Order: sequence, then structure tokens, then C-alpha cells
Amino acid sequence: MNEKFVTLYRHIIDQERKYPKATGELSDLLADIALACKLISLEVNRAGLIDILGFTGTENVHGEHVKKLDVHAHDTLVSAMKASGHLCAVASEESENFIALDEQRMGKRITSRYVCHFDPLDGSSNIDANISIGTIFSIYKRVTKSGYATMEDLLQKGTRQVAAGYVIYGSSTIMVYTTGEGVHGFTLDPTVGEFLLCYENLKIKKRAKTYSINEGNYCKWDMGLRKYIDSLKEECPEKGHPYSARYVGSLVADFHRNLLYGGIFLYPADKKNVNGKLRLMYEANPLAFIVEQAGGRATNGRDRILHIEPKTLHQRTPLFIGSEEDVLEVEKYMNGKH
Ligand code: AHG
Ligand code: MN
Ligand code: MN
Repeated sequence: MNEKFVTLYRHIIDQERKYPKATGELSDLLADIALACKLISLEVNRAGLIDILGFTGTENVHGEHVKKLDVHAHDTLVSAMKASGHLCAVASEESENFIALDEQRMGKRITSRYVCHFDPLDGSSNIDANISIGTIFSIYKRVTKSGYATMEDLLQKGTRQVAAGYVIYGSSTIMVYTTGEGVHGFTLDPTVGEFLLCYENLKIKKRAKTYSINEGNYCKWDMGLRKYIDSLKEECPEKGHPYSARYVGSLVADFHRNLLYGGIFLYPADKKNVNGKLRLMYEANPLAFIVEQAGGRATNGRDRILHIEPKTLHQRTPLFIGSEEDVLEVEKYMNGKH
């Protein structure tokens, strides 16, 4: 076993040691999330075999058909978080309101210190096509002092996140997380059931040659964005144009590729979705925390995602995220400065 054999838990503990006052709760919480995602990974990889595919016949708050795997991922995460005892509340894409977890542990009522937002299964429309999907999480310290969690604990702006990450269920299962000390990635080795360090202190390229957007919405975009996307397709060697188009339709997959290779992902507002489609609390904020820690940029076309004051659990935001210079460039087009 060589010294590079660093498990996720070993890495989390090493990060914890940088904070002498750390209680170890956040480390436990991250390990509990990783365990839940290992279980989800098992189901995702077996989905086709145990008929977990198909619809439950119910819809979530967004009126979207909920596939069984979404519900399974949600249930797995909530029960793991209940067992961990470190969370006073969880919020999930699959639950209209947040879930106040009753902290009863060892007979004493304990006031747990964290809250967590989840997208239990991102890219769920791709489940049946065996395209990469993922889980996204975002962790905050509660702001109320004790008792049951309130909405005040859940609706905090992104700069107050203490940790964020995602797990991508693809050709392999990879977990990427940050606690504000850089971005680190781990590949699940199913033979030993451990996430092993594969990317230490990931940094995203300042400018790249890939853009990721659903061009089917072109006619609904504002003119500035159309001009930007048109410019990426022109022959302009000094600007490195044309760029390559890559769009999986799973945010986690598109984001992960751009994090590793460089690139910009765009989900703008349009005439139909005036606030865009993606959700602030469990899609934009956690990925914005990660991309900024990796030296990238994430805005709504004007303001930093992490500065947005949330008003509701499922509020949507336009999202422009990835290589810093590319995000700055599209902002110029969006704000008429190009
Ligand atoms: P979710 O499956 O959690 O609802 O997220 C789906 C999102 C995101 O994964 C992806 O980037 C986007 O939907 C794709 O939307 P379009 O199909 O409109 O391009
Ligand atoms: Mn999603
Ligand atoms: Mn989802």
C-alpha cells in the first residue's frame, strides 16, 4: 500500500486537524454523506436490474415527474442524516419544506449545529439513458442557538457555507468536496468500498475552449447572450474560437468536466424561465463555492452567486459558472459592455 493511499476519511481528518478547536462533527457529517452516496451509487448502478426505474407516479414541488431513484436517493440521505445526529435540519429538492430532524441521542436532547441542502439526484431525466447523474450537497452552521431549526437556519447566503460537494455516478463514482481549504476529489474503489484521493487541490483553467449550454433555448435568450454564443462559433484564432460545444444535460457531469478540463457552463434566464431553471440553494451555491475555491467564477450574469440573499428554499437563479475569464466575457455581453 503506497503512501498515496489516502482515503476520504483520512483526508477529512487531516483537514480537521488544521482547526484545533474543531469538534469533529463536520468530519463525521461529511463521512455520513459519503456513506449515503455509496449506497446511492449501488442503486444507481443496479437500477436497470431491480426495476427501480420508471416513475413513482408522483410529482415534486416543481411539477416534475419524480423517478423512483430520486425518491430513493432522498430517503437514503435523510435517514443517513437522521442517524448522524449532527444536523438540525435538511432541505431537499424532493421535499417542499425543510425536515427538522429531532435530535434525540443517548437519551439527551442535543442541539445539532449544522443544516444541509441536497439535490439528491441531479440530472434525473438522464437516469434511464445511463448518462452520468449526481448528488449535490451544501452545509451551513445553524444560526439559531437551540431547539428546532427555523427557516432562518436554512436561508443563508452562499458565502456562509462551511462545506459543499457533489458525487457523480458515472463510469466511476467520484466525490468532490471543499471545506474552504481547496477542492479535492476521490474515486470510489468498489472492491474496498473506500473513496480514494485522486485530485488534490484542483484548480480550474482561467480560460478554456468549451462551452456548455442548451442551445435549444436560443430563441428565448436575450440578445447579449445570443451575441456571445454566436461569437464562440466564429473563426477567430486569436480568441481561440470556435470553442467546442459539450452538453450532457446533467449539471454535475457538465460542471465536473469543466472543473477538470476548463470551460464555461451557462443556464441563463429566458422568456420562459425568468429566473433560469437551476436552484440556488442546492445546485448553484454549492458548485459556486467549489468553483471559487478552484480559482473559477460563478455569477448570475452580474452578481456573485454566493452573495445572493435567499428568500425561499427552491428559488431559481441564472447560472454562469466555470473558467473565470470566460464567465467575465459573457458578463460583458450580458451587460452591454461588449
Ligand atoms: P434535476 O435532475 O436535479 O432536476 O436537475 C436537472 C437540471 C441539471 O442537472 C441540468 O443542468 C439541467 O436540468 C438541464 O436542463 P435542460 O434539460 O433544460 O437543458
Ligand atoms: Mn439538479
Ligand atoms: Mn435533482
